[in-house]
Amino acid sequence: MREKIRLTQYSTKSGCAAKISATDLTAVLKEVPLARVEQLLVGIEHGDDAAVFKISENLALVQTVDFFTPIVDSPYLFGQIAAANALSDAYAMGGKPITALSLVAFPPKLGYSVLEEILKGGRDKIEESGAVVVGGHSLEDKEPKFGYAVTGIVHPEKYVTSKGVKIGDKLILTKPIGLGILATALKGGIIAEKEMMDAIDNARTLNKKASEVMMEVGVNGCTDITGFGFLGHLHIMLKASNKSALIYTKKMPIYLKALELAQIGFVPAGTHENKKFVKDYVEGEPTKDAVLMDILLDPQTSGGLLISVPSVKSDLLIQRLDEEGVKTKELVGEIVKGKESHIELV
Ligand code: CO
Ligand code: CO
Ligand code: CO
Repeated sequence: MREKIRLTQYSTKSGCAAKISATDLTAVLKEVPLARVEQLLVGIEHGDDAAVFKISENLALVQTVDFFTPIVDSPYLFGQIAAANALSDAYAMGGKPITALSLVAFPPKLGYSVLEEILKGGRDKIEESGAVVVGGHSLEDKEPKFGYAVTGIVHPEKYVTSKGVKIGDKLILTKPIGLGILATALKGGIIAEKEMMDAIDNARTLNKKASEVMMEVGVNGCTDITGFGFLGHLHIMLKASNKSALIYTKKMPIYLKALELAQIGFVPAGTHENKKFVKDYVEGEPTKDAVLMDILLDPQTSGGLLISVPSVKSDLLIQRLDEEGVKTKELVGEIVKGKESHIELV
């Protein structure tokens, strides 16, 4: 019998940890200024998750693309996670996904039944979102990579960005962190896929319900937690809003197994890049806890939404998330007066 294909063995870096570092990317993008047109309500300048392009008085498109290398071994699960992750940037802005185009890079030697499984996983998640796969593009590559370009719709006055957070807002996180560490350990053969099934289940869970609830309740800002880690994405949100935040580190939802692995030094390469990106902005006693910092900077793939909600609505938001079956809805911090885009850990 053929040896079972382990997808993570075919990539050098896994998932969103394979992103180009935020520091390098910012420098490159500065050299490539983009044209602005009036219909472009949100472009890339504030580090938002997706672009918003106005079509008419009551319709705007939300557009985003995401693809990456395997973070799990099973092709079907990889497809599901890649789709949930690609949809997530539309959800972070309150968009409703309508179409998706697949992006496929694949080594033929893995056998096309593997690709079939990846595509099935992806299709199932896109369909669960209510969107449809309308096409795609593929190429042969040494490393498998997969994802989608997603188009959604939103009202041109009602989308959510990372820019609107206000002093007094509560910060709610909708998935635990630590997946990057688990994926690195899986790739290294330290743990088996079944030992990280809770993390995989969260990664393939759509941020759909969380997004719908946030739109219903009304919030000031949102982003999803992916490659730049919890602190990286929080920092981007604070910078866009000129605000600062207080984070209750004891309330952070963290995968236990990830904590164990971080203690013995299992940390993805992307963590160091993320540390460089935020190091001048993070303060407080817990910064001395190296393991905790590795978790807070851990690159996530298909992570949760980080929602900035007015304090008076935070109970309602948590209650509605609960009613809609969103498992994690942890109040992890608040927006405070302080040094611009700084994060105080307590
Ligand atoms: Co995002
Ligand atoms: Co993205
Ligand atoms: Co083509």
